[in-house]
Amino acid sequence: MRTLRRLFARVIFVWGIVSGLVTVAIIVWFRERNARTVFPASSAASLLVPARGWLMPVRQTLDRFKLRKGDTVLELGPGPGYFSIEASRMAGAQGRVLCLDLQPGMAAILRERLRAEGAGSGQPIAGDAMRLPLADHSVDKAFVVAMFGEIPDRPAALSELRRVIKPGGVLGFSETFTDPDYMFVNELEDLCRACGFERLERQRATLGYTLTFSVPKKRARRRRTPKPS
Ligand SMILES: C[S@@+](CC[C@H](N)C(=O)[O-])C[C@H]1O[C@@H](n2cnc3c(N)ncnc32)[C@H](O)[C@@H]1O
Repeated sequence: MRTLRRLFARVIFVWGIVSGLVTVAIIVWFRERNARTVFPASSAASLLVPARGWLMPVRQTLDRFKLRKGDTVLELGPGPGYFSIEASRMAGAQGRVLCLDLQPGMAAILRERLRAEGAGSGQPIAGDAMRLPLADHSVDKAFVVAMFGEIPDRPAALSELRRVIKPGGVLGFSETFTDPDYMFVNELEDLCRACGFERLERQRATLGYTLTFSVPKKRARRRRTPKPS
């Protein structure tokens, strides 16, 4: 009986090690295969698997981005809209969520999902993060999840974000280590600070983090007090 128990423990131990190694190998393979490329629209379904909620709970992540009713929000690289539907609900009928993606294939999937869910404030837009087709200071909040590392010229994208977000507005990021284009938190924070964003919060998430910044409000010019004559 004792020998049987020992054998069973060994089998469980070896199984644990092998499945751990296989999981790591799959993650490494997936990261290498997709690194530095735009995530293909043909794999959109993999971004909607319910298990993703364990790594990135939608509502908790969006709460960290401080979305409010009536906000005009820009979502960069929404893909098929894992976050867009809830974001549209949070912005409400008086708000808007502009979901800007490079790939028309992603925008088509997103449009259909928004329609099916009745999320009327979500608006898919085709465009490039490095040249935003939006007016200066036209959005209250912007957020970017699991996509910033796909952009070839990240400082250009940040200066575009700085241009379109209103002073006092919020920019949020979320990254997960399993993403092939994962950006390390310090690198992202340094880039944002260099572009004039001020950090609000840096919070841990499962295998990743969220970072939020604000766009500084312009300081009111001090009036010079006239010298007494
Ligand atoms: C990995 S998917 C992430 C989708 C979504 N944010 C999520 O977490 O489920 C990245 C998305 O960013 C888009 N993208 C990549 N580079 C872009 C760019 N320069 N401008 C706009 N969208 C871009 C891709 O087309 C893709 O839909």
